[in-house]
Amino acid sequence: MLHETHWDDQFPHDPAICYLNHAAVAPWPKCAADAVTAFAQENITQGARDYPRWVRLEHLLRSQLQALMNAPGKDDIALVKNTSEALSFVAMGLDWQAGDEVLISDQEFPSNRIPWQALEPRGVIVRQVSLDGVNPEAALIAAMGPATRLLSISSVQYASGLRMDLPRLGRACREHNILFCVDAIQSLGAEPFDVQAIDCDFAMADGHKWLLGPEGLGVFYCRGEARDKLQLTQFGWHMVEAMGDYDREDWVPANSARRFEPGSPNTLAQHALSASLGLLLSIGATRIQEALQQRTAYLLQSLTAITGIQILSPTQATRRAGIVTFRVAGQDSERLHVLLMKAGVICAQRGGGIRWSPHFYTPQRVLDNALTILRTILAQPTDSNAG
Ligand SMILES: Cc1ncc(COP(=O)(O)O)c(C=O)c1O
Repeated sequence: MLHETHWDDQFPHDPAICYLNHAAVAPWPKCAADAVTAFAQENITQGARDYPRWVRLEHLLRSQLQALMNAPGKDDIALVKNTSEALSFVAMGLDWQAGDEVLISDQEFPSNRIPWQALEPRGVIVRQVSLDGVNPEAALIAAMGPATRLLSISSVQYASGLRMDLPRLGRACREHNILFCVDAIQSLGAEPFDVQAIDCDFAMADGHKWLLGPEGLGVFYCRGEARDKLQLTQFGWHMVEAMGDYDREDWVPANSARRFEPGSPNTLAQHALSASLGLLLSIGATRIQEALQQRTAYLLQSLTAITGIQILSPTQATRRAGIVTFRVAGQDSERLHVLLMKAGVICAQRGGGIRWSPHFYTPQRVLDNALTILRTILAQPTDSNAG
C-alpha cells in the first residue's frame, strides 16, 4: 500500500482518467485554480487598481523560487517565459570565441541542444556526449578539455528519466574552470534541488511540469558572479535598475537577475504558480521525493511483472526521479500510446517507448487502473489493437 495523505483534496481528478504525464504538462492543484479565479474576479471588478498587491505577489514568488532552489538571494532569480528562453539567454549572452566547446549529452530535449547549436555559425563546437555507459558523469568529465567553456545538462533526462549526479559534475566544472548550466525542468518540484550544493552557474525550469503551474512562466537562476558574463539580448522598462522612473533617459541594467525581464510580467501565471509553490513548499521537497520514489518503484515493480515489458529507465532509486519509460516486445509503441490515451491513461511516447510520470500525490488506484488498462490492451490480439 502506498502512503497517502491529506493532499488528495487539492487534486480532484476525473475518475475516468489516469494522469501519468507530469513530465509533460501537469494538472493544476485546486489552490492554483482558485488563485486564478480570484485574480480574474479582481480584474473584472477592479482592474489593476491594487497593482502594489500584484508586485508583492511577484516578490513572494521570487522568494518561493529562491527557497525551492536554495539560491543565495532573491536577486539571483529571474522570472522568464520558459526554460528555452533562459537557456537562450545563456547561449546568446556569453562571449564566445571560434573553437570554444560546449558539452551537452546525447539525450537532451531540443531546448538544451538548439540554443548551443545556434552558436555553430560562430565557430562554437557542440559535443554531444553519450550517456549510455554505466558511469555517465565520468563520460562527461572525460570529455572536458582545454577548449571546453560550458557544460549544459538536464538534471533528469526527459525520455529515459536518467537522473544525473549534479554535485559531481559541478565539482568537475569548477576544477576545469568550466561554466555549469542545468536544465532543471524534470526535477524542480519533484525532488530537492540546491543550486549551492550543485555549484552551478545557471539553472532553469518552467512551471508547468513538476511545479504544477501553468505554461509560460519559468525560473532562471543566475549566479551573482556569472551575471555580468551574460550580454543582454532583450531590453525594456522592466530590466533597468531605476525601474519605474519613466522620465529618466539614462539607464543601466538592474543589478539583480531582473535584468533578464524586459517588460510587463505574466501576472496571471504568477498567481497560479505562487499558489502551487505554496502547496509544494508546505509539503517539502524531501517528502515529495519520498512519495514520488514510492510510486515510481511501485510502477517499476508492477511493470516488470508483465510479460514482454522492457524497462528503458534506470531502476536504481538514485538514478531516477519521476519518469518510468518502457516498451513492450512485439508492440508498436506509437499504437500502444494511442490505445492507452483512448482508454484514459494520459502519458507520452518518448525515447522509443511509453513514458509514465506520476507525481507525489498520484493515488494508488490511479496507478493500479493504468496497469490494469495496460494488461487488458496487451491481452488483446495485436490486430484488434490496431483499431
Ligand atoms: C528537459 C527539458 N527541457 C526543456 C523542456 C521544454 O521547456 P520549455 O517549454 O519551458 O522551454 C522540456 C519539455 O519537455 C524538457 O523535458
